[in-house]
Amino acid sequence: MRITDALYGEHGSLYMLMNAIEARLAGADLAMLQTSAALFETAILAHAHFENDPFFAALDRVMPGGGPVTAMRAEHEEIEGELAKVATSRDAGAARAHLEAAIAEARSHFQKEEVVLFPMAEQLLGSDTLEEMAAAWAQNRGVALPAGRRIARAAGAAMNEMAAASRQR
Ligand SMILES: [Fe+2]
Ligand SMILES: [Fe+2]
Repeated sequence: MRITDALYGEHGSLYMLMNAIEARLAGADLAMLQTSAALFETAILAHAHFENDPFFAALDRVMPGGGPVTAMRAEHEEIEGELAKVATSRDAGAARAHLEAAIAEARSHFQKEEVVLFPMAEQLLGSDTLEEMAAAWAQNRGVALPAGRRIARAAGAAMNEMAAASRQR
């Protein structure tokens, strides 16, 4: 598995969470809005921080000068800033507006990563790097990713080569 596969998957889960929060926005009081924002913040910051390092850090090495990675980092900070404002809001109206803004920014940000940044990363980073980062992600998240998958695939490829070589003889 590649790190981009994991990150696309996390976007899927975060979309579900954002949809659920939005469906409850209208009637929510300040306490409920702040609880929703705190849960969303835990999930999206874990995602964004793993992107910042090691994922964007690896892209920085092959794509010096920033470009899209710099813009994506700035958007992470904007989303984080809106969620921090929910926590310090004194009334439900302000909290709702900041939570709505954070969700809208996250949707637009995810779209750019899915359409532009992740495909670019899959082109620029080698498959070993993408798989090593996926293993680090799995360990960080507590996902039991089979450690031998890459070894098994390499063994499978070697066996195919041996079979092809023996056919040529
Ligand atoms: Fe991101
Ligand atoms: Fe993302």
